Amino acid sequence: MPDGDAVRTDHDEVIAEVRGLVKRFGSVQALRGVDVRVVRRTVHALVGENGAGKSTLGRVFSGAVQPDAGTLLIDGAPVRFRQPRDAQRAGVVAVSQELTLVPQLDVIDNVFLGVEERRAGLIATARARDRFEELTTQLGFDLSPHQRVRNLNVADRQKVEIIRALARTARLVVLDEPTSALVANEVTQLLDIVRRLVANGTTVLFVSHALQDVLDVSDTVTVMRDGEVVSSGPASEQTPDTLATAMLGRTHDLSFPTRRPPTQAESVLSVRGLGLRRRFEDVTFDVRPREIVGLAGLVDSGAGLVAGAVAGVIRPTRGQMLIDGVPVRLTSPTDALRHGISLLPESRRDEGLFMRRPIRENVTVGKASIVSRWGMMRRRLEGVLVGSQLRTFDVRMSSLDARVDTLSGGNQQKVLLAKSVFVRPKVLVAMQPTRGVDVGAKSSIYSLLSDLAHDGMGILLVSPEIEEVYGLAHRILVMHGGRVIAEVDPKAIAYDEMMRLVLTADRTGGEGAA
Ligand SMILES: Nc1ncnc2c1ncn2[C@@H]1O[C@H](COP(=O)(O)OP(=O)(O)OP(=O)(O)O)[C@@H](O)[C@H]1O
Ligand SMILES: [Mg+2]
Repeated sequence: MPDGDAVRTDHDEVIAEVRGLVKRFGSVQALRGVDVRVVRRTVHALVGENGAGKSTLGRVFSGAVQPDAGTLLIDGAPVRFRQPRDAQRAGVVAVSQELTLVPQLDVIDNVFLGVEERRAGLIATARARDRFEELTTQLGFDLSPHQRVRNLNVADRQKVEIIRALARTARLVVLDEPTSALVANEVTQLLDIVRRLVANGTTVLFVSHALQDVLDVSDTVTVMRDGEVVSSGPASEQTPDTLATAMLGRTHDLSFPTRRPPTQAESVLSVRGLGLRRRFEDVTFDVRPREIVGLAGLVDSGAGLVAGAVAGVIRPTRGQMLIDGVPVRLTSPTDALRHGISLLPESRRDEGLFMRRPIRENVTVGKASIVSRWGMMRRRLEGVLVGSQLRTFDVRMSSLDARVDTLSGGNQQKVLLAKSVFVRPKVLVAMQPTRGVDVGAKSSIYSLLSDLAHDGMGILLVSPEIEEVYGLAHRILVMHGGRVIAEVDPKAIAYDEMMRLVLTADRTGGEGAA
């Protein structure tokens, strides 16, 4: 465009556009004729139910998926991206829903993998280090460049993914569910980052189930349902309710099931003075059958680690654990499973599912004996058992034999949950059970957890979405700085008050210390 062109055309304003986009995966039609225009220097949100086609659309923009029909235009010109590298060259980069880092490498190596500033030999170049410093400062992230990614929790890995995208000097960043592994204060930070990116001239395509965040940060919201766009317009004209209604095609309110009282029976799980060097200390609590006990705390509070210790992922250095009154020393998650403790892990890809294996195998992997002792009948029985389990969870899939990585993120989460309860554990350690699932599925997972508890299971619930801990648990242990600082009854304390405890460890107005 020549300078001084008085009238800005559409062509000028639109950085990326798709027309008539169609994408099939076997019998599944993920996109059925999608038209979307993304205006330069704006945040464009994509919302929709699990499986609606959001990630697929995002992947078309970032070159990871090639459409069967339709056109992609960048800066008004039709393009054909054969791989993410092509998109990168055009300035389009994705931060994907499933983390794609190399666990064996350092943070800084992951950030610059495939970019020119990357390591020369074994030492990160000064230029790479400077750029890393600049990006983390700009983003307000506290990350050491030389940590192995393997040792980071999910939230930190997500930060690495974000830095990685920005290191590629992207003009259009596709953020697919960037907030689902972050806790409240980090989400606020991320939304600030998104705003700053846009202020600096970047455009952001933002895929999220957190409808309020979407409205807080975006200019335009496009709602998808079953592979089609059902509406697209200014965010200022929407509320979380109107979005949910458009997504689901019906009205919907997110509510928690009524709490049913736990039994007065003996504890199924007792934790006594549990500690792990400098990470958490002196943690003591009980979980009874039919009881949901919540652990609430920020990422560095130790809550996640305590849950990991209970599930056999982490070995505590002090204290004791008893199952049905019998002391146990768990050596691994498999060992925990033998003792009746099942884990719903934080990360689907790293700890939870075999992405390239069929759905049915993933669900039964912990309990092969249930199905294998039937010999010839095995596959059919497996099909029946797994099928009914997944139907309760409303998993949308083409068949039980489909690979897990063909499912949408939310549906993978449901398979993970199905797997963790298929073994009928005495205790379920549920970490962020609704990660990446849509509003409708959230409610059904809440009812499911409540029903599982009602059937006799003890549940230890840890989630960065403190609301869900507050809404579901019978009792909540608030953790701060590696210690349990209070035990609260969610029916007797206001949410804001509990949040203040979680954030500041300030006990005034709280329920009293544990
Ligand atoms: N590689 C693939 N192979 C087969 N089917 C796929 C593949 N990728 C996506 N699908 C299917 O396409 C549909 C749309 O999936 P997509 O991942 O785009 O949904 P989504 O809107 O991102 O959902 P979620 O909110 O759960 O992440 C789903 O039915 C999914 O199972
Ligand atoms: Mg998705």
